[in-house]
Amino acid sequence: MARVLIIGAGGVGQVVAHKCAQVPEVFEYICLASRTQSKCDAIAGQLTRPIDTAQVDADNVAEMVALINDTTPDLVINVALPYQDLSIMDACLETGTHYLDTANYEPRDTAKFEYHWQWAYQEKFKEKGIMALLGSGFDPGVTNVFTAYAAKHHLDEIEYLDIVDVNGGDHGKPFATNFNPEINIREVTAPCRHYEDGAFRETPAMSRKSTFTCPDGVGEYTIYRMYHEELESLTRHFSGIKKAQFWMSFSPNYINHLQVLQNVGMTRIDEVEYQGRKIVPLQFLKAVLPNPGDLGQTTKGRTCIGNIIRGKKDGKDVGVYIYNICDHEACFREVGSQAISYTTGVPAMVGAMMMLTGKWMTPGVFNMEQMDPDPFMEKLNIHGLPWKVVESATIGWNPED
Ligand SMILES: NC(=O)c1ccc[n+]([C@@H]2O[C@H](COP(=O)([O-])OP(=O)(O)OC[C@H]3O[C@@H](n4cnc5c(N)ncnc54)[C@H](OP(=O)(O)O)[C@@H]3O)[C@@H](O)[C@H]2O)c1
Repeated sequence: MARVLIIGAGGVGQVVAHKCAQVPEVFEYICLASRTQSKCDAIAGQLTRPIDTAQVDADNVAEMVALINDTTPDLVINVALPYQDLSIMDACLETGTHYLDTANYEPRDTAKFEYHWQWAYQEKFKEKGIMALLGSGFDPGVTNVFTAYAAKHHLDEIEYLDIVDVNGGDHGKPFATNFNPEINIREVTAPCRHYEDGAFRETPAMSRKSTFTCPDGVGEYTIYRMYHEELESLTRHFSGIKKAQFWMSFSPNYINHLQVLQNVGMTRIDEVEYQGRKIVPLQFLKAVLPNPGDLGQTTKGRTCIGNIIRGKKDGKDVGVYIYNICDHEACFREVGSQAISYTTGVPAMVGAMMMLTGKWMTPGVFNMEQMDPDPFMEKLNIHGLPWKVVESATIGWNPED
């Protein structure tokens, strides 16, 4: 039995707290800490077992160290923002505490989505005898594990990887993002990069699109190619990959709003002078947009996120589609959140469970695909994210069409 400290009481933090609380045989003690303690207390009030809450500024390493020393966790689950990754990793190093997150570090002034800052901790974590598990959400996270599962059970060599993230949900608002608006809009407006023939190729943001028909009646959606951070680690760890792309669905309404916001400068991440003080337009926009954590009440429909993986088995061309479908309303009934927070929070809890039960415990800094996928896949089925595998012949989608 283990002790966990969860940092961040947003949409994802709420799900992680619920899901850890559901498994007392692994998570004996839980403390939920964030910048605003009242948000932690509100989440604690929804749970059927008591947890501790605390206030912390996770940008401040000394504050994080003091909180870790107070609560003595075995593992810190970081579901604050990507800006806090390095300060929390520093605090884990200082205190000898394992670390897990769901998104890679980003400096505030440039949207980079690169792992090198966190991979640079490899030797220090190894020497200290502690583990960091990076990107244990859905994408990155489950999509990395789906790739490792296909490599282990279905293919000898992965050549083509397409990750397709469809949100078939409707929140009923004119415009809202499904997770932190600042991080989401930075991601969507960044230039697209995909991997092809040994290098990443850059194309303008949202310049390539396709139509994807989801299985099990979820429907047909327009998907846009964009950069996503798991492409970097997956192409590094599966060196035979010839082409890797990430696709996400957006409604015409979302695209129209985003274009207007971009055109008027509201998605800028540099500082502008306003009435004698400096503000970042995208941070101001976040303050006036709906809180993604509150969208669960109105969101209907399903998500469908999966990997289409093609390559060779015994010299023959083969492929698989591994996917999960998640219902927004069912998530809300269970934990009071919509499916985007749910599909991120469940894998964070399962990744933590893998580490704390010793199934994935190795000192150093690791991406999900470096671990044995089987125990993680088994727990996804049990804890709310069941998955299916189908042969590629039945997928009916070719990214080159
Ligand atoms: N891998 C995936 O599939 C995936 C998918 C979605 C999201 N994510 C990641 O999940 C994380 C959480 O997303 P979310 O939608 O839950 O975001 P959110 O709703 O904005 O919540 C972020 C939380 O972090 C807290 N926080 C921010 N700065 C802090 C600081 N310096 N110290 C302490 N707490 C701080 C916030 O506090 P306040 O409430 O005071 O602002 C808030 O409670 C993000 O990193 C996001 O990129 C990953």
